Amino acid sequence: MSRLLLPLPGNEAFANALAAEGDFALAAAAVRRFPDGELLVRIDTDVAGRAVDLVCALANADAHFLTLAFVADALRDLGASEVRLLAPYLGYMRQDARFHPGEAITSRTFARLLGSVVDRLVTVDPHLHRIAALSDLYRIPCQVVHAGPAIGRWVRDRIAAPLIVGPDSESEPWAAGIAAAAGAPYAVFDKVRFGDREVRLTAPDLAAFARRQPVLVDDIASSGRTLVAACQTLQALGFAPPVCVVVHAIFVGDALDRVRAVCARVVSTDTLPHVTNAISVAPLVARALLAEAGPGAGPRPD
Ligand code: R5P
Repeated sequence: MSRLLLPLPGNEAFANALAAEGDFALAAAAVRRFPDGELLVRIDTDVAGRAVDLVCALANADAHFLTLAFVADALRDLGASEVRLLAPYLGYMRQDARFHPGEAITSRTFARLLGSVVDRLVTVDPHLHRIAALSDLYRIPCQVVHAGPAIGRWVRDRIAAPLIVGPDSESEPWAAGIAAAAGAPYAVFDKVRFGDREVRLTAPDLAAFARRQPVLVDDIASSGRTLVAACQTLQALGFAPPVCVVVHAIFVGDALDRVRAVCARVVSTDTLPHVTNAISVAPLVARALLAEAGPGAGPRPD
């Protein structure tokens, strides 16, 4: 029997893209608020005995978490055999340590809360910084899908003589994977962050790549300051305006305008609906979901 995909409000486009890729049926839930703001959710599909994949990108997780919890609990009450969360973007991955006295380690708390709500988690390129794997944070089985192969193919098919550039040392494995898929060289910058909106980058010697088209790749664009600084660094070195590619297009406030002002083009994957979406990861995610892999497994080789 096909798996049921249940998109939470705002996630319909990604769920439809998944459904077009494989053996899924779409389920429906209605979500509304009482006059006092409290939520009412109603599951409109018979889920008894069925495995359900909830689709909910967790940017602005504060706004979505309770809806997710209520829907997941209702599914179990109504007899769903499994509730798996597909969060194309997984929020609350940033604060994975106590950087200043008294700060909450929200990655840990959020993982515990989410793990109490769903049975399994599938996500795309979570922001793992000081934590090596999602299993170090989450006690439920997690599966990670990598957007790198889709990004690499996009670059290979559209950009002549690219140079893949990662904005910080953590991006090295990721930039290397995209470069391999695109058949291109890569380089990574060193980044020091001085605040929410201030970063400083240092480039290695890129003289050998002077004639190449720089393609900046990053997992997240939030304030956009990392991409802006990276574009300005490349410009100062005499490169053509870069193409910027991000997996998760958050782009708060005027971030997109700031980045567009210093680059040739901005594109993103469709993990979050955004005007820059140009690369779909739905085929990779659908394949991972249908693989029915066990705990800790990754997607099938691309
Ligand atoms: C940081 O390690 C990430 O890879 C991104 O570079 C960062 O989250 C981007 O943030 P912003 O757009 O605010 O500079």
